[in-house]
Amino acid sequence: METSLLLGTVQKLFASAKGLLAMDESEGTCNKRLASIGLPGTEENRRAYREVLVTTPGLGESISGAILYDETLYQCTTEGRHFVQILAEAGILIGIKVDQGTQTLAGHPTEKVTEGLDGLRTRLKTYFAMGARFAKWRAVFSIAQGIPSRAAIEANALALARYAALCQESSLVPIVEPEVLMDGGHTRSRCQEVTEEVLHEVFRQLVVQGVMLEGMILKPNMVLAGSSSAEPDRVDQVASSTLHCLLRSVPAAVGGIAFLSGGQSGERASACLDAMHRPETGVATPLPWPVSFSFGRALQQPALEIWGGQAANRGSAQQALLHRARCNRAAVEGRYNLGMESG
Ligand code: 13P
Repeated sequence: METSLLLGTVQKLFASAKGLLAMDESEGTCNKRLASIGLPGTEENRRAYREVLVTTPGLGESISGAILYDETLYQCTTEGRHFVQILAEAGILIGIKVDQGTQTLAGHPTEKVTEGLDGLRTRLKTYFAMGARFAKWRAVFSIAQGIPSRAAIEANALALARYAALCQESSLVPIVEPEVLMDGGHTRSRCQEVTEEVLHEVFRQLVVQGVMLEGMILKPNMVLAGSSSAEPDRVDQVASSTLHCLLRSVPAAVGGIAFLSGGQSGERASACLDAMHRPETGVATPLPWPVSFSFGRALQQPALEIWGGQAANRGSAQQALLHRARCNRAAVEGRYNLGMESG
């Protein structure tokens, strides 16, 4: 393990209030996104879409790292330039999703466990040699009557911790992503309770497995009422519940926190992130860790819709991505406002 390399990577990823672009959708998920704009899920369409994202001029001003999916590491632009090279030239560090998706947890038919530990050590060495400097593993937890179970929480936390230890052994910064999903009719306070329980177990396992907390990044959900709940969920309430939850469960040594967006709209995710960086939220500042973003949909969705598979729309799609990236950088500095959306 190269401690100084890990610490340097964390520092670069959070420098200058920048954040991460999550563009690591698996083939299936990317195909679903393409289907939503009427395109067939072919390798060429996935490549063409991702070419639009990675070739966005000026992206590196707000984005410090891009999380890729395995196939994207090998892909090139139509002119034959490797995506990895283009990102490196823009000063954007390469990350790679290394989990292999979820399966039903045995004995718990409504819950998932993330797989991908077999052979991971070898894959990590290959990814590092190809230029990756950080990695991602996502576990998911649903909230419903009686779940998440202790079985699901402990199985996923152990897998996240084993993954993180293997990453650090290969000098890759692990992004540890335990996502409590927003689907359901639960209250924000139930989301907070579950998120805290999950994070406590995740950090317990990370410590047991000897993970260096300074050399890892946590990618949590924000604390929200369920998407079908009638409870009003004000931006300042989300910010305050989320920060209280994290302060209770995330050790101060952790290198940084980069939120997922989880299905929130781009504007809403920016507003919630911004509120976490404003003194009026009422949470003691400064926070012990840098707090930034690692959004997928909340960065990409407008660009995807504008692109629509048409080469002629490439420039406007890139402007839309750049705009969301700038809004989120502003949010990390606590200077985002809705006026930025009308410009
Ligand atoms: P969303 O921001 O769309 O939730 O995606 C982030 C991510 O990387 C999920 O694993």
